[in-house]
Amino acid sequence: MSTNINPTGTGLPDINDLEKLANELFSALPNEFPKEISLSPNASEHPRATKIAETLLAAGNLGGVEAAFPVSHHDTLVGQSGFAPLATPAVSASPIGSVQTPPSFGGFGGSPSVAQYGKSPAFGGYTNAFSDPTIENISQLGDLNVDVNQGFASAPVSGSGADPYAVNNGNNINAENPQTGFSDPNLKNSGGNSSSSSNLNQNYLPFELEHSSFEAELKTALEALNSSFGIPSLATTPGIIDTPGSYYFLNENPFGFDSKKADVSPVSHHELEGFGGTNFNPHIIKKDFPILKETVNGKPLIWFDNAATTQKPQSVIDRVSYFYTHENSNIHRAAHELAARASDAYESAREKVKVFLNAKSVNEIVFVRGATEGINLVAQSWGDQNLVAGDEIVVSNLEHHANIVPWKRLADKKGLKLRVIPVDDDGQILLDEYAKLLNSKTKLVAFTQVSNALGTVTPAKQMVEMAHAVGAKVLLDGAQSVSHMKVDVQYLNADWLVFSGHKLFGPTGIGAVYGKEDLLNETQPYQSGGNMIQDVTFEEIKYHKAPNRFEAGTGNIADAIGLGAAIDYVSKIGIEVIGQYEHYLLEYATNLLKQIPGVRLIGTAAHKASVLSFNLQGFTNDEVGQALNKEGVAVRTGHHCAQPILRRMGVETCVRPSLAFYNTTQDVDIFIETLWKLKSGKK
Ligand code: ALA
Repeated sequence: MSTNINPTGTGLPDINDLEKLANELFSALPNEFPKEISLSPNASEHPRATKIAETLLAAGNLGGVEAAFPVSHHDTLVGQSGFAPLATPAVSASPIGSVQTPPSFGGFGGSPSVAQYGKSPAFGGYTNAFSDPTIENISQLGDLNVDVNQGFASAPVSGSGADPYAVNNGNNINAENPQTGFSDPNLKNSGGNSSSSSNLNQNYLPFELEHSSFEAELKTALEALNSSFGIPSLATTPGIIDTPGSYYFLNENPFGFDSKKADVSPVSHHELEGFGGTNFNPHIIKKDFPILKETVNGKPLIWFDNAATTQKPQSVIDRVSYFYTHENSNIHRAAHELAARASDAYESAREKVKVFLNAKSVNEIVFVRGATEGINLVAQSWGDQNLVAGDEIVVSNLEHHANIVPWKRLADKKGLKLRVIPVDDDGQILLDEYAKLLNSKTKLVAFTQVSNALGTVTPAKQMVEMAHAVGAKVLLDGAQSVSHMKVDVQYLNADWLVFSGHKLFGPTGIGAVYGKEDLLNETQPYQSGGNMIQDVTFEEIKYHKAPNRFEAGTGNIADAIGLGAAIDYVSKIGIEVIGQYEHYLLEYATNLLKQIPGVRLIGTAAHKASVLSFNLQGFTNDEVGQALNKEGVAVRTGHHCAQPILRRMGVETCVRPSLAFYNTTQDVDIFIETLWKLKSGKK
């Protein structure tokens, strides 16, 4: 049996073939072997929990180890770099009661070392839990082959890309869902460390490694089974990525898109798959987002409402579910195991945000509900404490209401002056006018890095420098930028930056404020209660330093951790690659859209991200939105919480498609075709 190349043009092997092969493998296992495999993809986020396990292990309390980790007797996984033929299954006697280690599956993230050492405790699925660089005393860990730098994984195991949750749920391998979000130090270029993730994109299509190794391992496995179980060998499968997909728009051009005129190079297949020298493929990316398999009015969902919120990859959904299944506890407040797991996972998410933004310290990252709460935090703490009557706050005309209303309220309360940076007719900041607004009374400049209504990318670094030159602080609204471009807070040098997790493929109800550490520590808390205090008497209260002083009460622990998973996901693809692809897609869509008679683009800045606002003459925005919805295309219509800028552009409302990296040119074509049909009366 061979895996066919998928006819849909993704260049991947046929999913059904792969799935069938995988299931043949699993069903062929002798009955005494567990059919379920459990990975603990998040165990590396539990350094303290790991310490507890080590202590118990050193004390010989293996029952305690077992209790400390949610390993059932049927879901331990031990992996080896090669397949152990089933005729001589690699069963290790486990020191944990009667637990047997299952046969080894290369490619499932298990530690090869664990399988090889008979005395090793059978929590192979928790290999990552032992990748603790703080382990100092190897002898404490018995005979295990520990490399202090790499934990137990002394020989790398290639990743399968299999979703452990699918496996746990009895689906064995869901090859159609090539999960990438879980950190696995055994994976070459694992997404676990977002700081190193950009390397991944230098050479590989996302998931290419997983797929190719997965297929190779399946092949080896099935060949091993061949003589015992009579399963035919896999035929040699051509390089699954070498086969070009058939991107129809490369061959035909139904709407007259002239790529030579676009602000991108003429597109070749390799370029399309190779943004930034990588093998980016949105068709594969799409498969990670389960909601994109939905149909709307009988049509596949096309999600063009990314500026309002983004869809979530399976890894984020699973991570939140994993928290409630295995880690749920309040944080920082108890001596028990789950408190350690929850606290570790939460702080690990903070570290991921820190790395993602290139902040200097985790102390500069405060979790909040989202960008809106972040701006309110700064306004009601720093702003309220430091601004006095006569001081001036400067915002731009592009701002979302969230970056206007808190400042307007503060201005009204304290007698401050709110001044507005004008934009030109394309929606670009007028830097000369901005310069004229700045003076010694300017205490704060608050502006967006990307306009949610027009997509304008502002010259943020320059604007920050100009504000600092007059001694003003700067708050940068990153709600619409962090998902489209590299946002480096040290480079930009704003004093605060806010963003929302849900616009970054993470959960709703979570976001972060980056703030310079000294500034945060100089600022009195925003809300008060538990978690943010060092000591409380009725006479005096001492606050923690940042970030805790700004995190009163029980926060959104699960969703912070989900945000960490979203950052892992985005980082694994590479934000620069995402930016380049989206730029291409925006140019592609803009060139098609402006050819439709009666279309007026709202926002035509030279430097734009994601957003494609427009009006269509002869139709209300709602009519356009509804016609698109009939075809499964989701766009936002209305004022987009940015009335001042829409009014500046001469409209009250508009239609706003907004793009993300899982959108494709096919999606754009359906959108364009629908508008043409609407225009020609064929609703
Ligand atoms: N701020 C979000 C938007 O622009 C809700 O749609």
